Amino acid sequence: MTNPARFWDRISARYARQPPADEASYARKLAQTRARLQPDWELLEIGCGTGTTAIAHAPHVKRVRAVDFSEKMLAHGRERAAREAVENVVFDCAALDEIDTSRPWDAVLMLSLLHLIPDWRGALDRAWALTRPGGIFVSSTACMATMSLPLRMVLPLLARLGLAPRLSSFSPDELAAAIAARGFEIEERWQPGPRDAVFIIARRPTERVVRES
Ligand SMILES: C[S@@+](CC[C@H](N)C(=O)[O-])C[C@H]1O[C@@H](n2cnc3c(N)ncnc32)[C@H](O)[C@@H]1O
Repeated sequence: MTNPARFWDRISARYARQPPADEASYARKLAQTRARLQPDWELLEIGCGTGTTAIAHAPHVKRVRAVDFSEKMLAHGRERAAREAVENVVFDCAALDEIDTSRPWDAVLMLSLLHLIPDWRGALDRAWALTRPGGIFVSSTACMATMSLPLRMVLPLLARLGLAPRLSSFSPDELAAAIAARGFEIEERWQPGPRDAVFIIARRPTERVVRES
């Protein structure tokens, strides 16, 4: 089986040059996340890519750990953090399932990541374990189920040729239900358009609510 990190290594230089596809939506997602961050918080971003979001949030928290399994994506992030003199972001090379879940974080971010994870429900279990009670989990993810039919047909072919990553398929409702089923309370759910990525901010309650049947 091919190593999926290689795909991201290969496209890292192009990815680092590209601005977000929809600048206004990206700015809104940053602002909605930032409104919940606290200066003494420690933030974990998984699948940080070239570090754009980690660096953007860094001035608003104490520390950021930005994790990705592609060394080349991380190298761009490290370079940019050094160029912008951002000193509170640590870039670490690791896959999602290698991250130590015994250490909880104030905020856990998975942006443009869940659709890339074959066991995306398992990724949500990890998100739950990694978020401290009272902390937030933030996800923005493409939902294959709401993509246009041509895209849904072409993407698996491109993945087979190594020209696109393999994608998991779920709908925005399935995703929201799976996040809530872990125990998170969804505070924000926003999709700029019906085919766009769904953005969710969810809080891990300080106490788990036991619902009577
Ligand atoms: C679409 S990019 C998103 C990057 C960044 N979060 C953003 O929004 O621009 C997906 C990133 O997730 C990383 N990634 C994919 N699967 C991963 C996994 N299982 N563990 C860690 N990183 C992963 C890839 O290397 C890539 O950098």
